[in-house]
Amino acid sequence: MRLPPIVVLTGAGISRESGLATFRDADGIWAKVRLEDVATAEAFARDPDRVHAFYNARRRALRDPSVAPNAAHHALVRLAHAWPAPVTVVTQNVDDLHERAGQPRLIHMHGELAKARCTACGAVHPWLDDLSTATACPSCGRAGGMRPAVVWFGEMPLAMDEIAAELAACGLFLSIGTSGAVWPAAGFVAEVRGRARTVELNLEPSEGVRLFDEAIHGPATVVVPAFVDRLLADV
Ligand code: APR
Repeated sequence: MRLPPIVVLTGAGISRESGLATFRDADGIWAKVRLEDVATAEAFARDPDRVHAFYNARRRALRDPSVAPNAAHHALVRLAHAWPAPVTVVTQNVDDLHERAGQPRLIHMHGELAKARCTACGAVHPWLDDLSTATACPSCGRAGGMRPAVVWFGEMPLAMDEIAAELAACGLFLSIGTSGAVWPAAGFVAEVRGRARTVELNLEPSEGVRLFDEAIHGPATVVVPAFVDRLLADV
């Protein structure tokens, strides 16, 4: 049997058991902060200090010694190495847990918390420290224009052409730890339906659960390694 290319879409739920908050759960980030206040270009123009404080705290959380890739991140790396066709992870997460686990073929469609972008010259730099309105761009030297290299609401997600090509080529589509509330990622399952087998792995049914051929509900650290074992039994 020829095994097909796989696209794995991941969301905040895959990093929950690593200690990072999700967005729309009862204890999620958007239950505590209004996204209009921190995650739009308008919010950044209005109150950059507040936006920087929000992302600085999340960037620091990534470096907390207790935060590390979990069994679900590691299982996807195992899948990528053992599967005979390409396995591409498209993540909505801005954390760096997939890369710390060693994931090859990783696309960050919502950008990366551990990078900063200069709004003056466009340069993107790896960034682990806090940002402020006084931060100078290491490339052009201008102060005041550095922002987190993440995609805000109202902005275009990254690498959409590359993602479209991966979706067009895949024969298996997995959606892990995402509520399916945010577009365009929420539309990927409908895009591949009919051509690819589609499986949701999430703590609870997502908004789009009926669009999937199969749904497996439980914590990512349990259901993802078990599902990867099932897939690799066919290799
Ligand atoms: N294992 C698996 N799934 C989990 C777990 C877990 N341990 N914990 C929570 N979940 C599920 C929740 O049930 C929920 O369906 O993960 C999903 C997380 O959904 P959201 O909080 O909406 O996160 P996400 O889908 O990644 O959000 C998409 O919204 O605010 C933006 O830009 C942000 O990239 C983010 C986008």
